[in-house]
Amino acid sequence: MRRRPSASASPGAIQTETPDRHAPPEPVRLPFGGAPHTVRPLTLADTERLISFFKSHNEETVRLRYGYFFREMTRARARELVGVDQRKDLALAVFSVQPDGSEVIDAIGRYFLLEDGRTAEMAFVVRESKRRLGMAQALLQRLMDVAGRRGLTELTAQVQRENHGMIALFRRAGASVHSVIGADAVDVRLPVRPTTS
Ligand SMILES: CC(C)(COP(=O)(O)OP(=O)(O)OC[C@H]1O[C@@H](n2cnc3c(N)ncnc32)[C@H](O)[C@@H]1OP(=O)(O)O)[C@@H](O)C(=O)NCCC(=O)NCCS
Repeated sequence: MRRRPSASASPGAIQTETPDRHAPPEPVRLPFGGAPHTVRPLTLADTERLISFFKSHNEETVRLRYGYFFREMTRARARELVGVDQRKDLALAVFSVQPDGSEVIDAIGRYFLLEDGRTAEMAFVVRESKRRLGMAQALLQRLMDVAGRRGLTELTAQVQRENHGMIALFRRAGASVHSVIGADAVDVRLPVRPTTS
């Protein structure tokens, strides 16, 4: 005669592990421009990679990403940007793998949780030579998935009014775009659907 798996389990009950809703996403391989790339959370070990990525930006990219121009990414600031608490905030990057096996950052998408605990502010930057390959869109999709799993209701962004590419991408994802009176920026609001997986 077969024994029940557990004396305390009710008959017919399926025992499942409770999913960790706040766990950062696992690395995945995705093709962009026909080449395989890795998408994974940034870690402190990526500090030098982030500094190299920043050095590849032209002035316009820095201004559009950070809202103003600055010349140098200090090691301290780079550590802050890669060393976020990935269970609360989220900082994902797309990496290409070089022939010697080393990784190079091609794109970053991140959000940080706002004080209300239900909304978060996003930012993206993609290497100039790797634009229009779908990297920002893939990162945005992941940010939305993780935000939905963590119970967030909305992702927001402040985007320069002239940044038509970023605004088009957000609109395509279902965002509403609002003018900010007296500012050069628009306010983007992207509703997040709760996800269970
Ligand atoms: C905006 C930015 C992140 C877009 O990254 P990307 O990887 O090139 O975007 P994707 O390839 O995922 O684009 C997806 C869709 O968004 C829209 N889009 C993206 N860039 C666009 C552009 N320059 N012009 C018009 N539409 C654009 C298109 O609909 C595009 O789909 P398609 O290529 O099939 O037409 C990138 O140009 C960038 O890093 N800009 C500088 C930094 C910045 O502006 N950051 C935003 C701060 S919040």
